[in-house]
Amino acid sequence: MIFETVVVAIWAMLPAYIPNNVAVLAGGGRPIDGGRTLGDGTRLLGDGKTWRGTAFGTAAGVAVALALNRLHPFVSDVVLADPFPLLAALSLAFGAMVGDILASFLKRRTGRQRGTAFPGVDQLDFVVVSLLLTAIVATEWFLDTFTLPVLVAVVVLTPLLHVSTNAIAYAFGLKDEPW
Ligand code: CTP
Ligand code: MG
Repeated sequence: MIFETVVVAIWAMLPAYIPNNVAVLAGGGRPIDGGRTLGDGTRLLGDGKTWRGTAFGTAAGVAVALALNRLHPFVSDVVLADPFPLLAALSLAFGAMVGDILASFLKRRTGRQRGTAFPGVDQLDFVVVSLLLTAIVATEWFLDTFTLPVLVAVVVLTPLLHVSTNAIAYAFGLKDEPW
């Protein structure tokens, strides 16, 4: 059923969806690259990737997974997925932050200034890394949860959710750019 597939896709990805949004709200302070530049003078990552944003983002993603686990007994008829193992909670949340950081690295290497859009990469960077990391550290849960239909739903729905939440954050003045 499409409905069950979509529910599992969104539920299982929530711990990966939250971190980037929390990083926007909590970010600031010391950049991860410490201001370092490469030989050609470009920043390694840029001022948009900070320790504080990454730490708060990861913590928020893990907190969401734990909260969903509390909720699980009440919704297990609808959400056909097993609770998040702690390792999966961590890898989904931290993987999302690492994916976003890798994307910044790619952006800087391809001459894109901080804040410029990188269509495709902006929407899926965090999905790829959070799923890869989770497949490695929580393989059994990953294979049970992310069946092929669920993976397809994630790849289709994530860009839509990403674009709409960022547009909302921009409209509320929380984000400098609408992507
Ligand atoms: N942020 C942060 N730490 C992170 C990710 C994001 O502090 N690991 C905060 C920063 O304040 C950043 C804002 O969230 O400016 C928006 O995030 P994002 O759009 O990912 O960064 P950009 O500023 O657009 O920088 P980049 O071009 O490198 O993606
Ligand atoms: Mg940006």
